[in-house]
Amino acid sequence: MTERLRIGVPSKGRLSDLAIDLLQQAGLQFRRQSRSLFARVRGLEVDLTFLRTDDIPTLCGEGAIDMGITGSDLVAEAAADVQERMRLGVGRCRLAICVPEESPVKSPADLDGKAVATSFPRVTDAYFKQHGATTHLVSLSGSVEVMIQLGVAEGIVDLVETGSTLVANRLRILEEIGQYETVLIQNDRVRDPETAERLVRRLEGVVIARDYSLLEYNVPRVQLAEAEKLTPGFKSPTVNSLEDPEWCAVRAMVRSDRVIDTMEQLEAMGASAIIQTTIANCRL
Ligand code: PRP
Repeated sequence: MTERLRIGVPSKGRLSDLAIDLLQQAGLQFRRQSRSLFARVRGLEVDLTFLRTDDIPTLCGEGAIDMGITGSDLVAEAAADVQERMRLGVGRCRLAICVPEESPVKSPADLDGKAVATSFPRVTDAYFKQHGATTHLVSLSGSVEVMIQLGVAEGIVDLVETGSTLVANRLRILEEIGQYETVLIQNDRVRDPETAERLVRRLEGVVIARDYSLLEYNVPRVQLAEAEKLTPGFKSPTVNSLEDPEWCAVRAMVRSDRVIDTMEQLEAMGASAIIQTTIANCRL
């Protein structure tokens, strides 16, 4: 008998809410009892295990869980033996070498021989070595941004999302060394590969649906070719005839972040009845 698939889910913090939301939207029904580490999924051979986000890559690599939701920054730092199955389209951030605003440092090589504080010692060390610099790494689990003020380091390597932490601490980015986001990982010996594939397809449906909207509009037939260039759809747009032979109706998926611009451009070329609909889920 195949064992139930085990998925590691962040137990707390922002990523925990995002992951739970995503799994529920993908149709996984479960109830997490307070303090419990496990939750059984109803109607699917899957168990969820709630873990610290930064332990998920290692525990997946070790086979304690088959798949997990975590940050690709943590996967890189753990150098765990796992593969990235899917980007989940949330939690995007950058890892950057930062120095005080007024620092004379111009390149990573200028930090040769200096102290650098970070929660990402492995990634940081590899980067500086590649750039011919040997730094004294101060490895910390958080609050890295105050280490320059405390006199612990001359530079830091930290995650930057909006940049407000940098501004608050009067730091500037010297160089970006990585781009990361929330990902689904898996090891190469999953207990139940068939259920794992089913889960991936379900999550793909939700992730793509979140990125796209459905746009419908009517357009004069003479403008159809131009309109199709604006809305090429995922594969190709659906075009239907209207009662008036000079007009047609078009339906296409459009990236949600492009919808407003696209609507304006369509309107400018004579399209009308332009409607955006949110997609809850899809299979393409
Ligand atoms: C992260 C990171 C930065 C901050 C960046 O810290 O370490 O400090 O977010 O975000 P921003 O560019 O939007 O300001 P987090 O809040 O995860 O806590 P930590 O300091 O304990 O790592």
